[in-house]
Amino acid sequence: MIIDRITCQPVSTDCWPYSIPPVARLVQDGLTLDTPITFLVGENGSGKSTIVEAIAEAYGLDARGGRAGRKYVNDRPKTLLGETIKLHGRIVGNKRDRKGYFLRAETAHGFMSFVSGMYGYWEENVMEMSHGEGFLTVLNTMFRDPGLYIMDEPEAALSFTSCLKLVEIMKQVAHTGGQIICATHSPILTALPGATVWELGKHGIRKSSWRELELVDNWRRFLENPNFYMGD
Ligand SMILES: Nc1ncnc2c1ncn2[C@@H]1O[C@H](COP(=O)(O)OP(=O)(O)O)[C@@H](O)[C@H]1O
Ligand SMILES: [Mg+2]
Repeated sequence: MIIDRITCQPVSTDCWPYSIPPVARLVQDGLTLDTPITFLVGENGSGKSTIVEAIAEAYGLDARGGRAGRKYVNDRPKTLLGETIKLHGRIVGNKRDRKGYFLRAETAHGFMSFVSGMYGYWEENVMEMSHGEGFLTVLNTMFRDPGLYIMDEPEAALSFTSCLKLVEIMKQVAHTGGQIICATHSPILTALPGATVWELGKHGIRKSSWRELELVDNWRRFLENPNFYMGD
């Protein structure tokens, strides 16, 4: 485990981002990570990106997405939470030397074109691939070294089959001593055996089994009777 606990210095929870219930809970009690793969799930706006960006930044990964120790663009201010949280665990080296990668669905495509062909990235021209193919190429390449891999909704570009490939890559990362923290809405990714799933919401943060996740329940009901949801 690279990170086994996240704490936050005491701050008032009156204003954003500390006022978001999951962040308030993090400030109050901290969070303990006890498996190499952690998923964060929850409705839009529940605070998943706020938390994964802060972790990425505290570790030394550009909050916009990218590898450890590299700043791709300097015009973005640091995230508030990233400056107040503290990561505990087997975190070696200074920020520049750490192994890891932050993959955000929203910025991944632009980012891939920017670094395609740069030393230390990937040889393939990902711009000639579909979004999903390019994404998997990036993941395959970047996941060869054990490190901290943070992802924000990686499933956005991926088909059902590609999601299953991502599950295999994630397993490999965990197996080789790496760690993954991933915000997701995917019922496929969250089914990964041995992973911890945190459900974020008005209640704060709670651990949940896959079967009991609201997102899984919603999908189950939808697939059972799609017409019910179509308003006719
Ligand atoms: N810079 C900001 N200032 C104030 N509120 C913000 C800012 N960025 C995001 N928010 C709000 O914080 C909440 C959590 O956002 P986010 O972490 O992006 O949620 P999620 O990733 O779970 O959809 C949302 O209500 C969002 O509108
Ligand atoms: Mg988000």
